[in-house]
Amino acid sequence: MSKHSVIVGANGRLGSALRTACGAAGHTVTALGRREMDLADEASINATLETLDYDTLWLTAALTNVDYCENHPDQTEKVNALAVETIARISAQKGAQVIFFSTDYVFDGEKKELYQEDDHTHPLSVYGASKARAEERLLGQSATNLVIRLSWLFGENKPGFPEWVIGKAMGDEAFSVVANRWASPTYTHDVISALQPMIDGEFEVSGILHLCNQGVCSWQEWAQYCVDCAVESGIPIHTSNIESCLMSDIKSFVARRPAYSAMSSERYQILSGQTMPYWKQGVNRYVNDYLAPQLKK
Ligand SMILES: NC(=O)c1ccc[n+]([C@@H]2O[C@H](COP(=O)([O-])OP(=O)(O)OC[C@H]3O[C@@H](n4cnc5c(N)ncnc54)[C@H](OP(=O)(O)O)[C@@H]3O)[C@@H](O)[C@H]2O)c1
Repeated sequence: MSKHSVIVGANGRLGSALRTACGAAGHTVTALGRREMDLADEASINATLETLDYDTLWLTAALTNVDYCENHPDQTEKVNALAVETIARISAQKGAQVIFFSTDYVFDGEKKELYQEDDHTHPLSVYGASKARAEERLLGQSATNLVIRLSWLFGENKPGFPEWVIGKAMGDEAFSVVANRWASPTYTHDVISALQPMIDGEFEVSGILHLCNQGVCSWQEWAQYCVDCAVESGIPIHTSNIESCLMSDIKSFVARRPAYSAMSSERYQILSGQTMPYWKQGVNRYVNDYLAPQLKK
């Protein structure tokens, strides 16, 4: 009998990619977007999951705009933390594993070297705190559950940082990007490749796992590399030099961000025997193979 996977957040950047990957692996897939199951509404979660019998629930949905979360703490707590606990409780009763996607924002950025899975969490924002509480509640519901922490995600299913930067660089106006915040840009394609053995049922893991492309950079360095790749691939760029600014210069930042939140994926590499590609390889492939065909004249 084929494995039944439920994808929560099936229309998001990662959820869409997971939906495709689980389908391609021959799973029966139940794809849930906000319309099918609203995480802000406990009754909706109960009613939707009650009728389903599944092996794995991939929980990608969340309020992910950190400044919006900072201004809406009650809604954030409901969607990002309470809903996770409800889903984990129902799934535990069914004997199903929940794989929950979390974030580098659970850390305060003071460590200044790669964060490990068992490092102390100390979120600086409402978003980070809601995800840290969700992690705790999820792991408290079943020893088989898994938290996967990601950082700076980009990919085909939803425009993000590379699209924003390249869009700006196609214009004539100089612009600057924050140079005092560091982590690892991570390509959804590489996350899905890393998850493939789990999707295929060849590899089981529980607890906490960091999953990021290798290497560390600042937002400004990430931006500059996106633009360098764009120039190389023939995208018409007018502003090829990205200037630097500080986090404190960005007046629209309401939430505090950790200055350094790069995470080590060593546990994943030891358990799976696979290594994550370097972030520049991911960005290069994304710009060349996906963005350039759309943006070249
Ligand atoms: N993006 C990053 O840089 C990053 C970094 C680290 C960790 N993560 C974590 O990785 C996960 C996946 O990220 P992503 O970039 O794929 O996120 P995304 O594209 O923003 O997708 C999140 C999904 O959650 C859904 N959602 C929001 N509120 C909901 C609600 N009340 N009920 C049901 N669904 C709701 C959204 O639906 P609508 O489209 O209808 O709003 C959206 O499809 C998230 O949990 C995030 O915290 C992301």
